[in-house]
Amino acid sequence: MNDLYSRHRGVLPDWLALYYDEPLEITHGEGRHVWDSAGNKYLDFFGGILTTMTAHALPEVTKAVSEQAGRIIHSSTLYLNRPMVDMAERVAQLSGIPDARVFFTTSGTEANDTALLLATAYRRSNTVLAMRNSYHGRSFSTVGITGNRGWSPTSLSPLQTLYVHGGVRTRGPFAALDDEAFIDACVEDLKDILGHTRPPAALIAEPIQGVGGFTSPPDGLYAAFRDVLNAYGILWIADEVQTGWGRTGEHFWGWQAHAQSGPPDIVTFAKGIGNGMSIGGVIARADIMNCLDANSISTFGGTQITMAAGLANLTYLVEHDLQGNARRVGGLLIERLRSVAAQLPGVREVRGRGLMIGIELVRPGTDEADPQAAAAVLEAAREGGLLIGKGGGHSTSALRIAPPLSLTVAEAEEGAAILERALRSTY
Ligand SMILES: Cc1ncc(COP(=O)(O)O)c(C=O)c1O
Repeated sequence: MNDLYSRHRGVLPDWLALYYDEPLEITHGEGRHVWDSAGNKYLDFFGGILTTMTAHALPEVTKAVSEQAGRIIHSSTLYLNRPMVDMAERVAQLSGIPDARVFFTTSGTEANDTALLLATAYRRSNTVLAMRNSYHGRSFSTVGITGNRGWSPTSLSPLQTLYVHGGVRTRGPFAALDDEAFIDACVEDLKDILGHTRPPAALIAEPIQGVGGFTSPPDGLYAAFRDVLNAYGILWIADEVQTGWGRTGEHFWGWQAHAQSGPPDIVTFAKGIGNGMSIGGVIARADIMNCLDANSISTFGGTQITMAAGLANLTYLVEHDLQGNARRVGGLLIERLRSVAAQLPGVREVRGRGLMIGIELVRPGTDEADPQAAAAVLEAAREGGLLIGKGGGHSTSALRIAPPLSLTVAEAEEGAAILERALRSTY
């Protein structure tokens, strides 16, 4: 065991999982590449869990951070903060939510925790609807709405959560139905649950489930849900922690795949917007955001240095149309991976959109999840010089591919070739 690994094991929690039989120490990055402490270079198709959104060491972000660090890093929300106001205005305007208010946090967990606080206070209800196979964070409240056994270390919860069908299109009791019938069945399930419970505060859903293995419903499910929720006054929270900022290519926000319903009442975000600096946040209609009747504060939320990074990152993303790049390059990549998968009996499905692509692996000739194969492909890809992720609900059997949104066609080709070799060496 190398020294850093044994020190890690000696002092950090056992449940803090590391990838790879021989864990990696990443020491630096540039563009879509990273290097480890042994000097090996990798193409990065996971971006530190979808967080390096534009590129590693993007000069615009590096400059903004170092210049801001030389002026002031933090003053707290007790004082006016120009970068935070600038960022809030941009995020509010991009959200599509009328008369939006923005509250910055330091993580996706804290963003969802805030959304739950707002929704439960606004609706005076502690009942929440969530999706099966969901993940929303690691805190006590967000674990309570996470429909994924592998990420639920306790069943204790301040909330009463009811799990709704629909986040996974190709598994579960409605998988055999066509899209329209699938949506109808999920809506019936939702109506049925609402007949048996006290009025919930909100439905929270990831438009594409991240930790769950990049699964999603047919387009339009959340619009159909929205009609039912509206009849009860139940709020819709879109968790855009993984799907926001154009990653899905076709849309700036994942919820827009359900656009006929208009924007959600609350949107949460984190990960990519800071390109690695800790930015999370909540966007909500003013009447919802302002419903709290006591003070609330996040000491580090919206601090000048993270906001400077976020503004530079967002400006780069928009000015270089990285959403369009995700659509074009992601489209090529998914097609290439689908043609490889068609020849491999262990690949059950290649799914996703833009630069958010999942490959679900099964034992050949069965529909049984194959987490060992997923782990083997991860290792083989690393050997070949490519970093990817994995995920999944009942078992970790889906590969997750989510490179920085500035990925070039040549890099997509190179990564797909490495992945093809890794898949062929496993099956
Ligand atoms: C959809 C989703 N929501 C919330 C979170 C929690 O974010 P964080 O790890 O920043 O607390 C994650 C993290 O993976 C996520 O994928």
